[in-house]
Amino acid sequence: ANRLAPFRRGDGVTVFAPSRMKRDRMLPKSVYVFDAYGTLFDVNAAARSAAADPAFASLAANWPAVAANWRAKQLEYTWLRAIAGHHCDFWRVTQDGLDWALETAKLGDPALRQRLLELYWELDAFPEAFAVLTRLRLAGAKTAILSNGSPAMLDAAVTSAGLADVLDAVLSVEDAGVFKPHASVYDLVGARFDCTPNDVLFVSSNGWDAAGAAGYGFTTAWVNRTGAPIDRLYATPHHIMNDLTPIPKVT
Ligand code: LAC
Repeated sequence: ANRLAPFRRGDGVTVFAPSRMKRDRMLPKSVYVFDAYGTLFDVNAAARSAAADPAFASLAANWPAVAANWRAKQLEYTWLRAIAGHHCDFWRVTQDGLDWALETAKLGDPALRQRLLELYWELDAFPEAFAVLTRLRLAGAKTAILSNGSPAMLDAAVTSAGLADVLDAVLSVEDAGVFKPHASVYDLVGARFDCTPNDVLFVSSNGWDAAGAAGYGFTTAWVNRTGAPIDRLYATPHHIMNDLTPIPKVT
């Protein structure tokens, strides 16, 4: 564990230092945990991409509303099921939310429903995601996803976005049997990495998830991609940024 590793100092000189020291100097945390949908993966990409297909011209004008309703209902159903003790997996609420959104928009084409659901398994990663994860790994930190997504959904998304090699773990709420922001979900991180909440930077674009993780005890970063106001909840994120780029620098 005390192997000497090359470390490039700020002045450009390369020195050799024990690898643990190298990590501690470069990064303030040892475990970096990312929410999946909206944070690493662009959830709106499914509706945006289907709307660009001439076969689904009916979606062209109102895809942003369909995407927003789909996401809002999907999340609402997770919270209601968690409160009521009626857990199901995220694939179920993803379909239920879409059905609500399509009915609202009076879009009854079964081929459109099927296409939107297929696209959810191959969402684009945000452009900066790979470079940020790579940088954290090269600096000696552990990286992980902690998501509501089912293991199969996450596996497909990680593979199709090319992120498999830059993640040490992909943690699903299915191992807790309840959705975020239940504390037993955030407990999965300490169980997997044998670390305390203080060792962790938790990153989410979902304000309520960043707040939930801060209330749990993680240091948190809220990636506020849409310029939304801060959620009024029982805790607030420690850092706020527009995209993932500053993550390796935050303390
Ligand atoms: C997730 C949802 C919250 O990935 O986006 O957990």
